[in-house]
Amino acid sequence: MRRFSADYLEQTREGMWADSREALVDLDLDSRSRILDVGCGTGELTRVLAADSPAEVVGCDADPRLLEVAHEHVPTVAGDGLRLPFVDDSFDLVVCQALLINLPDPAAALQEFARVSSDLVAAIEPNNAAVSVDSTVDREVDLESRVRETYLRGVETDVALGDRVETLFEAAGIEVESTRRYTHEKRTDPPYSETALRSAARKASGAAIADHETELRRGLKNQESSYDELRREWREMGRSVIEEIQRGQYERIERVPFDVTVGRVD
Ligand SMILES: C[S@@+](CC[C@H](N)C(=O)[O-])C[C@H]1O[C@@H](n2cnc3c(N)ncnc32)[C@H](O)[C@@H]1O
Repeated sequence: MRRFSADYLEQTREGMWADSREALVDLDLDSRSRILDVGCGTGELTRVLAADSPAEVVGCDADPRLLEVAHEHVPTVAGDGLRLPFVDDSFDLVVCQALLINLPDPAAALQEFARVSSDLVAAIEPNNAAVSVDSTVDREVDLESRVRETYLRGVETDVALGDRVETLFEAAGIEVESTRRYTHEKRTDPPYSETALRSAARKASGAAIADHETELRRGLKNQESSYDELRREWREMGRSVIEEIQRGQYERIERVPFDVTVGRVD
């Protein structure tokens, strides 16, 4: 199982769903009574669901370290998304965010979602091949795009599922009702938030790139540059980011498209 740090999840999800919840409208949150968020990680989406629904909202994940963080905010249960520890029809909405892209057999997880849901199943999945970054540090744009391409080459699951999730729903026997697009736009500009400062520090220390070391090493096989070279360039870029922050000149915009697919079980 691919593991994520709590820092990585908190930073990548910062501000997500704070600007607009329009793409969540077909989850029908107002009328739900029990919601399960599978692969909830630190509970970033689980908290949004709990804030917007009268339902009892439960987060489930296979990584107990992440559940500790989620559990500070919402009820949690440890479990594997492919063998959920719940009886049939336990929830009226089973949802995940950025889980399917990390699974070797995402359709099998959707079948399991359909087993424990009596009504709706939803998946909120990014298309990581369509991420865009603008930055006042020129080499950040180039380096992030090289790292992204290398990661996409080295990763063993389909991290660019995007709008192909519909086909998976159909394979799992779930009738698709709608797909809506949400673009998570993350802006970094002065005055810098705590998260922005931590994110810059993680770039300069190499921690941000180390999160994906396995996939990057695999993606660099038979390529001219090595992981250590990439990491060195990345850390230099991180130091430039910190210098610009100190001068109050650093600005960055990242856009990640997510597709929200909602289906109904029979
Ligand atoms: C990219 S993170 C997304 C976390 C959270 N949904 C969010 O959007 O911030 C993927 C999550 O899926 C969890 N995960 C991966 N495989 C799993 C499995 N088979 N069963 C349950 N959780 C799993 C990981 O531990 C991680 O928390």
